[in-house]
Amino acid sequence: MKKLEIKASLTVFDSLDELSDDARELMLKAISVRKNAYAPYSKFRVGAALELENEEVIVGSNQENAAFPSGLCAERVAIFQAGTQFPDVAVKTMAISAASDTYSVLTPTPPCGACRQSIAEYEERQKRPIALYFMGETGKVVKADSLKDLLPLIFGKASLNNI
Ligand code: THU
Repeated sequence: MKKLEIKASLTVFDSLDELSDDARELMLKAISVRKNAYAPYSKFRVGAALELENEEVIVGSNQENAAFPSGLCAERVAIFQAGTQFPDVAVKTMAISAASDTYSVLTPTPPCGACRQSIAEYEERQKRPIALYFMGETGKVVKADSLKDLLPLIFGKASLNNI
């Protein structure tokens, strides 16, 4: 028997002002696209902005549905769109921001488990890490250099092939 230790490394910025110009610009796009969320049920609006290797920016916002599980998170709206429009171009960075219509979201909002699983597949596919920045409405911004820092022991292709 042996014990394994899993380490993750995150960087915490006190505010948007501490980010590099590129990262701040991307986060501002995520913040801006929150307004396009269709969130009549949760009143929780999430915006995601991706920067691709060809410098294209793809955005997404959460889209809900009266049949609740039929809705989709902002991150998957954005990354599936990137995969659709630019299947052969790597995603460099993802910025995520969340806000509520009913209270102030002051703590950084990380992507949900299902989104982490989806993003992991893109990282594996493109064989380069995706940097993720996430925040609430205002305040601290957290950066993960790779999705792997948010989802250890990923179930991926290798798990299916048993190799
Ligand atoms: N949501 C996202 O868009 N991204 C996440 O990572 C977490 C949750 C959305 C889904 C739903 O529309 C609302 O936020 C409340 O869960």
